[in-house]
Amino acid sequence: MRIPVRLRDAPYDVILGAGVRHEIGDFISDRLPRAHVVVVVTSPEIRRQPWFDLSFGIETHVIEVADGEAAKTLDTLERVCETLAQLRVSRHDVIVGVGGGAITDLAGFVAAVYLRGVAVIQVPTSVVGQVDAAIGGKTAVNIAAGKNLVGAFHQPLGVWCDTEVLTTLGARERTAGFGEVAKCWLVEGRSRAALGAATMEAFIEVSVALKARVVVADEFEQSGERALLNYGHTLGHAIELLALARDADELRHGEAVAIGLAFAARLARALGRVGDDVVDETDDVLHFFGLPSRLTGSFDVDELLAAMSRDKKAHHNFTFVLAGERGYEVVSDIDPRVVRGALEQFKEA
Ligand code: GLY
Repeated sequence: MRIPVRLRDAPYDVILGAGVRHEIGDFISDRLPRAHVVVVVTSPEIRRQPWFDLSFGIETHVIEVADGEAAKTLDTLERVCETLAQLRVSRHDVIVGVGGGAITDLAGFVAAVYLRGVAVIQVPTSVVGQVDAAIGGKTAVNIAAGKNLVGAFHQPLGVWCDTEVLTTLGARERTAGFGEVAKCWLVEGRSRAALGAATMEAFIEVSVALKARVVVADEFEQSGERALLNYGHTLGHAIELLALARDADELRHGEAVAIGLAFAARLARALGRVGDDVVDETDDVLHFFGLPSRLTGSFDVDELLAAMSRDKKAHHNFTFVLAGERGYEVVSDIDPRVVRGALEQFKEA
């Protein structure tokens, strides 16, 4: 299955299905006939997986980087670029990022800056990577001042979402990844009734199609459409931030997003934008995927409000993506008292 990302200057496809990784070699010989070298950027953990059987029909090298956010550093960027230079990788050649969202972010940024830009192909190996991180061209590394502060827009030549690579994910990792899928399912207005009959491919397809549409509408994150993808992320990011500070394993990103989705439905109801049906539907979708819909763990309401607020001291100017009569949209300047009330109720539930 091919889902087009119809960007005017750099259109590409997301190729989805079991075993699609084996088609990359033909794509490279077709689209990059002058390529002599493929460089795979991945982690030792991913390289050990049984499905790591990639062959491209031309000289291939593998550069290993750390798993997760640890890969997204300027040091790693420099080390990978030095290795590319030693391998005499040219602008005709191609980098293939094989990993979760952090590795595809790094591989994309390496490709954006090495020789001022070489081609990159992404093979995301996590659910979040397949439905979100590997698509859209935003690439970056982290610096001490914050996440993703050094990066570039650099669209891939193609994204291969191979469902076979998801079979070796741990149960918690896999379930948490569905937090982003649940978000897309809701934003796309898919019903809870349709969940039972949907396949893994269908879940990924719905999510990729939404991401592709949003990226085409707002490639460089200027006109605001990309903000729709932040549904569930305002509270989600806040609890992720607070939980990470005390225990790296307490909460996965997708679990935090799921809790954020449940809260956003309740906040929309508190603002009179939707009724109980939207809250119930949201909870049903989250439960279907085995995701949390309650704020468990010890979170302080003031700390959460501070983490969610644009103005950390005054606790005003809350912005959320919320459901309403016109569907899902960005809502700004929400009364902080309503946010506090909804949060207190949510915490007690
Ligand atoms: N790389 C993710 C995005 O562009 O949204």
